[in-house]
Amino acid sequence: MTDLSPDFATVDFYTDTSLVDDPHAYFDYLRAQGPVTTLPHRNVIAITGHKEAVEVTLDTEHFSSVVAVTGPVPGLPFEAHGDDITAQLAAVRSKIPFSDQIVTEDGKRHADLRSILATLFTPSRLKALDAQLVDTANGMIDEFAADGKVDLVRQYGGPYATLVIADLLGIPAKTRGRFREYLDGAIPAEIGATPEDLAKNPLVKLGKDLFGLLARRRLSQSPVGKAGRRIAGLFGVSSGDDILGDLAAARYPDGTKPTLVDLTSLAAFLFGAGQDTTNRLLANGFRVIAERPDIQAKLRAEPGRIPDFIEEVLRYEGSVKCAARVCTKTTTIGGREIKAGTVLLLTYMGANRDPERFENPNEFDMDRPKLRQHLAFGRGAHTCIGSALARSEVRVSVERLLARMGNIRLSEEHHGPEGARRFEYEPTYILRALKSLHLEFDPLQ
Ligand code: HEM
Repeated sequence: MTDLSPDFATVDFYTDTSLVDDPHAYFDYLRAQGPVTTLPHRNVIAITGHKEAVEVTLDTEHFSSVVAVTGPVPGLPFEAHGDDITAQLAAVRSKIPFSDQIVTEDGKRHADLRSILATLFTPSRLKALDAQLVDTANGMIDEFAADGKVDLVRQYGGPYATLVIADLLGIPAKTRGRFREYLDGAIPAEIGATPEDLAKNPLVKLGKDLFGLLARRRLSQSPVGKAGRRIAGLFGVSSGDDILGDLAAARYPDGTKPTLVDLTSLAAFLFGAGQDTTNRLLANGFRVIAERPDIQAKLRAEPGRIPDFIEEVLRYEGSVKCAARVCTKTTTIGGREIKAGTVLLLTYMGANRDPERFENPNEFDMDRPKLRQHLAFGRGAHTCIGSALARSEVRVSVERLLARMGNIRLSEEHHGPEGARRFEYEPTYILRALKSLHLEFDPLQ
């Protein structure tokens, strides 16, 4: 251990930026203490074992997602008593920051919201999307291809992820820039942020615009609106056949209409959830491509292996480090008792390098068996609903970027020479997010 490296036995995962550069070493340390380990701060137990992480994600009877985004930082607004805090939690739920998003809802309310989203990313919609993804990717690459260099995070991944989701949702071109601005600089789950800062949800700012767009979609689906739409269609005006249109028409499983407020919150979450996650996953993948000429050559020779490459990037360096749960009823995981009121640091990234599940987990190996057993998209009731979309976005991007950029390498000016590379990561406890990835390449075509 150098003077600068953290003392893993006492460090606070949620406030110490020294873990940002290499969270793997810390998760490996925790797993060596046991797949279920008590942390020294905040009444938190860390899960780093794959089997145990899966068990937690599937057990909605004993674990609530209400703290999935903020973790233990804001603290529970009550003193937990006894072995069942379900009623205590229900009474104060609305006081917990960020607790009204699909990812933090539980039980029937979560199932109702999820039933609406589950119909949106159909295989046919995703298939139809492929050609559009190729066009979007090519258009973005045109802007820097001749330069022979690019910061993949700022010049490609960020704007690409925004454009794709904005197109899918049906957000008018004039509003998109504003949406991007709302989210720019908003680092989710920022390390060292105060509980008040964490409670500020940047998605709320999107709400006003989305509410108006959804209200208009609903109106256009009414009998009067339908007639109007037919007339508008004759003049080439958009029919509103997009995700906002589907949301506006959606019903809960019991046939009732969701409120516009619920739909707005879902649409805002959809807009936000796939931006940094997809952008930074692509950057994590291109770091591997630039550092490993053998893998770069293999993907160029066998583009059909790109999906396997992406699965291994998700396992080896996914863009989500962790989620959180709170134990609602005292139970046992991995032979360890978990008391009601304990918060779990659910390290999807740690589980993805559990040697009990993946042989030589710290090696990048796209030929490993059972590639898709990683937990990069979570598991169980809250499994990522955008995983198929994210996989398509990243696959098309890798295909197009490899086709247009020959001999991809890291910029020594920005990342230092071989043997002394440097990379900066955003200071967030939730995301594995490169601040930039400066690549150089030989323009092709
Ligand atoms: C590489 C990209 C992505 C990664 C790594 C990722 C990761 C995740 C993870 C780990 C969860 C589960 C959180 C938990 O267990 O508490 C999740 C949930 C979710 N993701 Fe993603 N995501 C990605 C892209 C997307 C995209 C593109 C969308 C939509 C456009 C999306 C929408 C959602 C939604 C709605 C949920 C909440 C599901 C629920 O609570 O039922 N994600 N994501």
